[in-house]
Amino acid sequence: MTTRSVNPDLLARTSIASTIPSSELHRVFRDADDHERATGAPVTKLHVGEPYFTPPPEVGRALAHAVERGLTGYTAVEGLPELREALAAKLAAENGVDTDPSRLFVTPGSCQGLAALMQAVAEPGAEILLPELHWPIHLQQAILAGLRPVFYPLDRNYRPDPDTVLAAATPGTRLLLLNSPANPTGAVLDIATQRALLDLARGRGWQIISDEAYEHFVFEGEHVSIASLERDVPVPERIVHSVHTFSKSLAMTGYRLGYLSTADERTAKALRIVQEANLIAMSTPVQYAGLEALRLNHVVRDNHHMVLTNRNTALPAVRDAGLLPELPAGGWYAVLDVAPTGLTAEEFAADLLAVKNVAVVPGTGFALTPRLDARGRVTSAEPAPWSRHLIRIAMCVEPHVLRHGVKELLDFAHERGGAA
Ligand SMILES: Cc1ncc(COP(=O)(O)O)c(C=O)c1O
Repeated sequence: MTTRSVNPDLLARTSIASTIPSSELHRVFRDADDHERATGAPVTKLHVGEPYFTPPPEVGRALAHAVERGLTGYTAVEGLPELREALAAKLAAENGVDTDPSRLFVTPGSCQGLAALMQAVAEPGAEILLPELHWPIHLQQAILAGLRPVFYPLDRNYRPDPDTVLAAATPGTRLLLLNSPANPTGAVLDIATQRALLDLARGRGWQIISDEAYEHFVFEGEHVSIASLERDVPVPERIVHSVHTFSKSLAMTGYRLGYLSTADERTAKALRIVQEANLIAMSTPVQYAGLEALRLNHVVRDNHHMVLTNRNTALPAVRDAGLLPELPAGGWYAVLDVAPTGLTAEEFAADLLAVKNVAVVPGTGFALTPRLDARGRVTSAEPAPWSRHLIRIAMCVEPHVLRHGVKELLDFAHERGGAA
């Protein structure tokens, strides 16, 4: 299990950023590459959340066309007006979210949108509630924004219960982060849970950040944008900020194109300052590519279908072997519990790579619980003990890669006496 602690003398002179643990994913990437170089054997990469489908060619043509037409100057800090109009229409039609282009921002990937939003809403020292099993970047972003992370428990299917969220909160809580479908768990929040969480947040004076990166990959139930549940609330009283991306739905990971809708004008004003300071503006040709991408709903549906087929083909065997409680209801990943093998997640991942040339990510990297000093610097970060046997695999990879990787993983688990 990884434990990271910082020398107190050094800490007195260090920035917040320099104390934040790097994402475990980067280490796994390095390990997989080193292993490939050292052995010459190709690694089956189940650690990477990079889809096997590619961006639609129309999108690339729209980008090239913008460049050819000389549309390469700065745009407004919030993004191209026509793209923001189109995004407001998409949010209204598809997500049921009532927004206005004045509260919409185009961002270089939703990652930057999330980080900027946290900076825009953070009160110094305020607490943010994160799921105990979370995307490690959310944690890094929160600490960088000067927030103090507090974790809410998840049930055995990785869903939050509003009562336990409330129990985790403190008087310093100001923000609640929701991620549905979730990375890494694939959990999808149903409408009743989201309504209860919204009521809770409203009653307590919290704001909600809703990360909907995987909105088009819901396989059971339906995607509910929590902002749609407050569409009848007057704008100044709304509390939900929604963050979206083109990266997943259209495989546009390298285009770096996301967008977010702030709940109210006050947050939009603060966010404008954050983006002025960080961006000046988004890439202009990429925004024209985004305008084209919004017309390609049929591709989004195909991509959904490809991940669903992968899930339904490869993962039942993992569930039947007793390593997965249920198929993920959404997203691109599954969290496996390898406790029956007797190995820790780190041992399992390292041995699986060494013996079967298959790379997976230890779940401990998604469950770090950092301690912060009074100035918000991380003094230590240990994985929660219950994450000791969890690993994450990606199900967005080529079907034959997924099938092969899962077969090797199950063989390995059997050899270690740990799969039914
Ligand atoms: C939960 C979640 N949110 C946001 C992102 C950011 O994606 P992008 O910056 O490419 O939009 C990712 C990427 O893996 C993610 O898993």
